[in-house]
Amino acid sequence: MGVEELQAIAEALVAPGKGILAADESTGTIEKRFDSIGIESTEGQRRAYRHMLFTTAGVEEYISGVIMYDETIRQSGGDGTPFAQLLAAKGIVPGIKVDKGAKALANAPGEKVTEGLDGLRERLNEYAALGAKFTKWRAVIAIGPGIPSQYCTWTNAHALARYAALSQEAGLVPIVEPEVLMDGDHDIETALRVTSRVQNAVFTELHDQRVELEGMLLKPNMVLSGYDCPEQASDEEVAERTLHCLRHNVPSAVPGIVFLSGGQSDEDATARLNVMNARGPHPWELSFSYGRALQAPSLKAWGGDPERVDAGQRAFYHRAKMNGAARSGLYAPAMETAAA
Ligand code: 13P
Repeated sequence: MGVEELQAIAEALVAPGKGILAADESTGTIEKRFDSIGIESTEGQRRAYRHMLFTTAGVEEYISGVIMYDETIRQSGGDGTPFAQLLAAKGIVPGIKVDKGAKALANAPGEKVTEGLDGLRERLNEYAALGAKFTKWRAVIAIGPGIPSQYCTWTNAHALARYAALSQEAGLVPIVEPEVLMDGDHDIETALRVTSRVQNAVFTELHDQRVELEGMLLKPNMVLSGYDCPEQASDEEVAERTLHCLRHNVPSAVPGIVFLSGGQSDEDATARLNVMNARGPHPWELSFSYGRALQAPSLKAWGGDPERVDAGQRAFYHRAKMNGAARSGLYAPAMETAAA
């Protein structure tokens, strides 16, 4: 596949007014989410939950693509249509998480490296055959006393670029996700310094490994005050620092930037994206690839009860619509209480 075809997929994922649903929680992570509403994580419940999200009527107005997990891309809707086909028929681009999780980094207490490069070429070809058009790989960088180390930053950047190059080779648009965690009591200037260093390393590796920037998307954290920092930056300060970081590190050849929500409340994640887009235009589309910030109210409204699928879908549609408005700086908190 040529770079033009990859670019067309990347651009469709950041089409105006739309963004991505990250529904690629691993079996361990979705179990934690289900625990929070007191339901058991069985294969059937996980399928029912994802089916509810994917079949929400009209959500394709605001959702361009869905990132699935290995189990999910092999599951089907009620009539036996595989989820990837069900989404594609609605005009939603199917995607897949391909990393194998962040593991302890040798000789680096408190730091992690993401695994999954062994056998990746073969897995990518299989996912393409199952209907995936794009992929995701998440690296995790923690902030704390003496960390992140250069060793952790560059090891993760190198792996991200190896993944991205293989993904493009398979004809799949890579979503490159270097997540700087916002856990800790550090201030927003520390978050800016670390996020900037990490993004710089990632683009150096992407360049060295000949990744086509036009055929990828970046999935970064927003630059925030650490969650335990006594002084919490305002939405305007978050937008200012995040845009500063991106302008300094992300080439304009990249078609789009799709933020993770990373534990922000759903309304904070929407409001901050909105402020950034209101300050546009920018060299790249600024969109969302939220997991928790799109799903949390829906998960709660559903509660594992087949009778409450409608309520779960209404909650998901509402968050998708709010974030769709934030894509063009047209969101206002008053819209939260207006009829969905
Ligand atoms: P959150 O938006 O919940 O951070 O999840 C996005 C994601 O895909 C993390 O890898």
